[in-house]
Amino acid sequence: MNRFIIAVTGASGIIYAKRLFDYLKNKAELHVIVSERGAELIRLELSSGISCFSGDNVTLHKNSKVNASIASGSFKTGGMVIVPASMGTLGRIAGGISSSLIERVADVTLKEKRKLIVVPREAPLSTIHLKNLLALDQAGALILPASPGFYNHPKSIDDLADFVVARILDHLDVDQDLVPPYQPKN
Ligand SMILES: Cc1cc2nc3c(=O)[nH]c(=O)nc-3n(C[C@H](O)[C@H](O)[C@H](O)COP(=O)(O)O)c2cc1C
Repeated sequence: MNRFIIAVTGASGIIYAKRLFDYLKNKAELHVIVSERGAELIRLELSSGISCFSGDNVTLHKNSKVNASIASGSFKTGGMVIVPASMGTLGRIAGGISSSLIERVADVTLKEKRKLIVVPREAPLSTIHLKNLLALDQAGALILPASPGFYNHPKSIDDLADFVVARILDHLDVDQDLVPPYQPKN
C-alpha cells in the first residue's frame, strides 16, 4: 500500500529521514510525526524547521495528539519507519508505553502485524539498548541500523545516507534507484 508513516525522533541522523521523505513524497501518501527532540535535531542538523517535512500528499501530525486517526488499527498503512530512532523512543515502545503518537502508532503497527522499521543511531550500545532492540525484533520490528556500507565508494554525505535509505525502501517494497544492487567485480 502506498501510504507510509515516518516518525522522526531526537537521535542524530536527521538526513536519513529527510532523504527518505524526499524520495517518497511524490510517490506515496505520507504521515509524518516529529518528536519534540526530533524537532530540535532538525534545527541542529538541517538548520530548518519541521516544515521541511511538508508537501502535497503529506500530513504532519502533532506527537502529543495520541487520538489522531493514524493511531487506530483501522488506519491501514504499508508500514511505519522510525528514522532516526532514539534509544529513548525505542525503550518506550519496547516497554509498551504508548504515551505519544509515535509510541502509540508503533504499538499499533506491531499489534496489527504491519511493518515497523526502526533505524537506531547510538554508539556504543548499552545492555539496556540491546535488550530493547531484541524485544522489538521479537515483537516483529525490523532493526535497520543507521550504518552505511562503503563498498559502493560513496562520494558525499548524501551517498552515505542513501545507502541506508535504499535499504529502508527495499523493506517497504518501494522500487528504488538510489543504490544499485551489489555486483561483485569478478
Ligand atoms: C544533540 C543531541 C544528539 C542526540 N543524539 C542521540 C542519538 O544519536 N541517539 C539517541 O538515542 N539519543 C540521542 N540524543 C538523546 C535524545 O535526544 C534524548 O534521549 C531524547 O529524550 C529523545 O527523545 P525522543 O525519543 O522523544 O525523540 C541526542 C540528544 C541531543 C541533544
